[in-house]
Amino acid sequence: MPLKFMTAEQAATLINNDDNVGFSGFTHAGCPKVVPVALAKRAEEEHAKGNPFKIGMFTGASTGDSIDGALARAHAIKFRTPYQTNKDLRNAINSEEVKYFDLHLSTMAQDLRYGFYGPVDIAIIEASDVTEDGEIVPTCGVGISPTIARMARIVIVELNSWHPKELRGMHDLIELSDPPHRREIPVYSVRDRIGKDHIKIDPDKIVVVHTNKPNEGGGFAPVDEITAQIGRNVVGFLVEEMAKGRIPDTFLPIQSGVGNIANAVLAAMGESKDIPDFEVYTEVIQDAVIGLMEAGRVTFASGGTLTVSNPCIERIYSNLPFFKERIVFRTSEISNNPEIARRLGVIAMNTALEADIFGNINSTHVMGSRMMNGIGGSGDFARNAYISIFLTPSTAKDGNISAFVPMVSHQDHSEHSVKVIVSEYGVADLRGKSPEERAECIIENCAHPDYRPLLRSYLASGAVGQTPVNLDYAFSFHQAFMKTGDMRNAEIGENICEETVRK
Ligand code: COA
Repeated sequence: MPLKFMTAEQAATLINNDDNVGFSGFTHAGCPKVVPVALAKRAEEEHAKGNPFKIGMFTGASTGDSIDGALARAHAIKFRTPYQTNKDLRNAINSEEVKYFDLHLSTMAQDLRYGFYGPVDIAIIEASDVTEDGEIVPTCGVGISPTIARMARIVIVELNSWHPKELRGMHDLIELSDPPHRREIPVYSVRDRIGKDHIKIDPDKIVVVHTNKPNEGGGFAPVDEITAQIGRNVVGFLVEEMAKGRIPDTFLPIQSGVGNIANAVLAAMGESKDIPDFEVYTEVIQDAVIGLMEAGRVTFASGGTLTVSNPCIERIYSNLPFFKERIVFRTSEISNNPEIARRLGVIAMNTALEADIFGNINSTHVMGSRMMNGIGGSGDFARNAYISIFLTPSTAKDGNISAFVPMVSHQDHSEHSVKVIVSEYGVADLRGKSPEERAECIIENCAHPDYRPLLRSYLASGAVGQTPVNLDYAFSFHQAFMKTGDMRNAEIGENICEETVRK
């Protein structure tokens, strides 16, 4: 049977108000780009006629503006999960227009299979190739594609000729069996392949929309002195660990989070002569990994997606045979799998918005309530890593916010999952330390000097017990920021250290 072809507008009419829609991809990579825009337009037209039109959204992670941005601006989202990074969607979430629930990315596909969030009515999948017998080859990001393609009643394939068909062979696609039938996942090294290079479904479910659209990713901010120093501090720590025999000479696979800081740390690792060539087992393969691969420093990368700038992806596509030997794209339930992260001994590096002096981490909520992006894969890796490192500049917003506070205003990663914290000032190695020792170590090594006296005042303010917390002042930094716009104005009882710096 020949495949059915449609325009994006025709495909959008297959989606009804209240449907749950699954989208392919992971970050902007691998995401459909024309059907969601047509769907947003359709929603606006229905709204203009006075009809309700909103969908539930399942994704691999964040998406491009053509999905999250277009649908948020069209007020077409009923609920959304998991990770997101789009400004318009973030505003809709924080104004409570969109119901958003945040998940560990490794659990998204299995939660859908378990039926926790209702059916997947429609899947929209960007592909570099699709065959008449129902084989779909994704582009450069996978996410939850095999699961949504199998579960959905209709699968809209955006066949995007911007991506070469020769991507076939780079994917390793598998859906795990569900309990009680799940077995061990036979990935014993970063390079092991356990699945197929395509998704196979009933071709009768497929409709194809042709596109030729570039990826929607931006570039990275140039490395500044603060992120460069964080990178050097991480390198210093890792080199010392090797010297102590706690990281093998062959090194261990690296997972690095999203964003500028992670990119800068990888670049610093690549420049270090003391760090051997290494492999990457991560979710997001960023620009720095590609540069290090070309330089021979990264020998192999397993990830869920190529979250790179368009000049970088053009470099990859023009030298595809080289990269095909060195990169594998996996589904997020495998790229982020806790079992594999722990088996391989992944060194995990993720970014915090804020940390408290006991080592608890907030990666998601500004001042406790405003959602930034989401937990993403950070928890999948942090909890299961060989060494879990959190990175953060010591301050934000021109120094008015300290990244180190008496108590985090929201907790994503508990002290139990956090081994090391690094800022531009240094490294706090929390292993084997009591909460009080951790507090001293974080204040001394990572906090900005402006905030060290205030943090010490907090500890001296009558904070008692195994974990010395003083509930009267636990959120004094946040309250000061909310009232005055500067955490340096925190009032901590009568025990304010004399040298406290105030504006
Ligand atoms: N309070 C308020 N705002 C803060 C803040 C704090 N404690 N710390 C940072 N910010 C602001 C920064 O000022 C910046 O704002 P801007 O966009 O207006 O300039 C923004 O947060 C981003 O911070 P930045 O320092 O540029 O770091 P980043 O781009 O690396 O992002 C996270 C940091 C935490 C938001 C991001 O890494 C994230 O979403 N992490 C969670 C998911 C994750 O770790 N995924 C990877 C798993 S593999």
